[in-house]
Amino acid sequence: MIEFQNKLEKNSQEIDRFLDINLPSGKGLSSKLFEAMRYSSISGGKKIRAYLVLESGRFISAINNKPLSKSKYNELIAVGSAIEAIHSYSLIHDDLPAMDNSPTRRGKAANHVKFGYHTAILAGDGLLSWAFQIIGDSNFISNSEKRSEICFVLAKAIGPNGMVGGQQADMDITEDKSIDLGQIEWIQNHKTGALISCCSHVASILLDASHDQKTNLINYANHIGLAFQIADDLLDLDGNESSMGKPIGQDTKNEIPNFVTVLGREKAAKRALEETSKAKNLIQKFKQESENLVSLAKYTVNRDK
Ligand code: IPE
Ligand code: IPE
Ligand code: MG
Ligand code: MG
Ligand code: MG
Repeated sequence: MIEFQNKLEKNSQEIDRFLDINLPSGKGLSSKLFEAMRYSSISGGKKIRAYLVLESGRFISAINNKPLSKSKYNELIAVGSAIEAIHSYSLIHDDLPAMDNSPTRRGKAANHVKFGYHTAILAGDGLLSWAFQIIGDSNFISNSEKRSEICFVLAKAIGPNGMVGGQQADMDITEDKSIDLGQIEWIQNHKTGALISCCSHVASILLDASHDQKTNLINYANHIGLAFQIADDLLDLDGNESSMGKPIGQDTKNEIPNFVTVLGREKAAKRALEETSKAKNLIQKFKQESENLVSLAKYTVNRDK
């Protein structure tokens, strides 16, 4: 676990470096926007989505007996950074008083608390648009067909039929006591799972995975996504506020139904473990090559933040 956390930390540093170099900065009339975009995306968060992009790419290279070239590695870092910018945007908006009304994030004041409401909304918009600017830039991804396919797949994952649709349902079901497990699963698969499974999808595109390899890896990531959100719901009840860097008890306060409220702690934890087992079973036959993805599956449910 310590060794895995070191790998995750090294990945975070790489992503932070890319964000720091490439996000807008400097003085001018919109400098507050730049500052707010950088505040909520650089040096904070586990960056597991970028890790999943990179390790999915490494995995495909390894099972096809091809070394991961430096140029492919750089492409994976660019796409992973763009996805982390999108994830940061989703958290800035998620914390707004109109949504979860959460005052802290990643161990510091939430974006709207630090910069005010209009800047927080615009910083989210800025990070989202910037992400697509990076993916559309031939300086970062050389092949134009891959640029457009990644744009399409990513936009679909985070849009009305993906993450944003899931967030809408998550907000609307508040206080709905008749919600069933199937509906909860739908919401979590959309609000959190869609972006996580997209990480393996975009890596498959960049690394020219075969149809079967791509399907297998996306299925792995689907299970990871569900397990990840169940673990988040459990941490909202039993987690430690200072290690998590965000308030606990948010779902209870906002009366948001989730896996834990529907299933109870024990069954929810069991379900998260089942999801990680399914994820591991899909890749474990590739023994050595799957090591980091297997560790990620374990970390998903054993994390304390
Ligand atoms: C938090 O995501 C929101 C969810 C989708 C559960 P993370 O737990 O990945 O948050 P950071 O990026 O590490 O802060
Ligand atoms: C957030 O889910 C999901 C997205 C931002 C898409 P949560 O509301 O459960 O995330 P936390 O607990 O605030 O990190
Ligand atoms: Mg929320
Ligand atoms: Mg929230
Ligand atoms: Mg949560």
